[in-house]
Amino acid sequence: MKIEQINVDEKIGHVGEVLSSEQKAKGLLIHALQQIQKHHNYLPEEELKKLSKKLNVPLSEIYSTATFYKQFYFTPRGKNVACVCMGTACHVRGAGELLNQFKDEFKIGEGETTEDMSLTLETVGCVGCCGLAPVITVNEEVVGEVTEEKFEDIVKEIRSSM
Ligand code: FES
Repeated sequence: MKIEQINVDEKIGHVGEVLSSEQKAKGLLIHALQQIQKHHNYLPEEELKKLSKKLNVPLSEIYSTATFYKQFYFTPRGKNVACVCMGTACHVRGAGELLNQFKDEFKIGEGETTEDMSLTLETVGCVGCCGLAPVITVNEEVVGEVTEEKFEDIVKEIRSSM
């Protein structure tokens, strides 16, 4: 949906009456950022410049809003995103070693993406299923009790996705 097609008042009904026009504009901006990221898998600078013109919002303000939220990315991300949980339960059950296995296998560091764009490697504090430690998410799918065998299956899956 294009941003100009969104009618905030229609979307949120009478709640909109208590929102200032600034708050509504902020809501539109976040929605627009989400749509851009959905399309490109990150927020390309060119798209943010276009958005700035379209909404008549300074580019600095757009960056200020986008950097506030952890959900937005400013560099291209891989086709797959593996996220190793580094919370206490997972740490105790070998998350550090698992992270190193990913680094060695794909020759990237934490927060980096492979050259062929097949994988972005990330870490997270806790995904909320500590009983299944060590846990990773692959493209938002939770994989618990990660063994060597499961790790190898995940590697195969990532490599075959390209
Ligand atoms: S510490 Fe890893 S899921 Fe909670």
